Amino acid sequence: MEYRDIALRATSIYKSFGDRLVLSGVNIEAYRGEVVAIVGPNGSGKTTLLRIIAGLEEPDKGRVELHGKALLVFQENLLLPWKKLRDNIALGLVYARLPRVEIERRISEASKLLGLTEYLDKYPWQVSGGTARKAAIARILVLDPDILLLDEPLAGLDIETRRALLERIVAIAHEKGKTVIVVDHSVEAVSPYADRVYIISYPPTRVEASIDLRGTEPEKRLSLVYSVLSKLGNRRSTRKGSQLGSNIHEK
Ligand SMILES: Nc1ncnc2c1ncn2[C@@H]1O[C@H](COP(=O)(O)OP(=O)(O)O)[C@@H](O)[C@H]1O
Ligand SMILES: [Mg+2]
Repeated sequence: MEYRDIALRATSIYKSFGDRLVLSGVNIEAYRGEVVAIVGPNGSGKTTLLRIIAGLEEPDKGRVELHGKALLVFQENLLLPWKKLRDNIALGLVYARLPRVEIERRISEASKLLGLTEYLDKYPWQVSGGTARKAAIARILVLDPDILLLDEPLAGLDIETRRALLERIVAIAHEKGKTVIVVDHSVEAVSPYADRVYIISYPPTRVEASIDLRGTEPEKRLSLVYSVLSKLGNRRSTRKGSQLGSNIHEK
């Protein structure tokens, strides 16, 4: 087996809000240059997990090991409407007082990777949802993270736009060596593009399945995921109240 560099390892993560146990011993691993999808229904703790990985939230128990800088792109684009996309993307770099030429170089590189170049002089309200989402990702990408955490980047986008964005995300991982964690509620949307899929369910949330897709052709990945899920469904259906298979496919 080829040698792989670990980028991120979250071990036995627990998190409660009040007396509600949300994350109950979650284990996640990601390697350098991989796209890792975490798929679970609304309320399963995906955002909480990303916030813990990004260091924005403390777990009650557990350990997060990061090899490099991990930055989170929030689900809301949070673009400033009075600034052009170019200036929105530059925000963090201006704040960090980088030289103007370096800022321009980074904006240009990130924009090419994401397919944003022709929109840089538009305002957020002048562009499509997909372009605004790309700008929100570019704003973090220019900060040069090793690990890019994307919280439901596909939300609100149509199928074609999702596909185009996922292709860009794969390129950022595979060509630039960034580790990308993509959170979503649909295995259908992300499986063809992911090197590994983690399936999580309702709180108290654990990883229900971890599916390595690297050796599988993109068009066969979803059926592999389905076959793992159906085995899981069979195993779990003997337990009371378990409906993982149906939960996962619902929004
Ligand atoms: N700061 C918070 N305070 C109280 N409850 C929270 C907080 N953040 C998240 N939760 C709860 O934790 C659960 C998981 O939330 P979240 O991580 O946002 O899930 P997801 O992103 O998968 O939809 C939900 O029940 C949510 O209400
Ligand atoms: Mg969320």
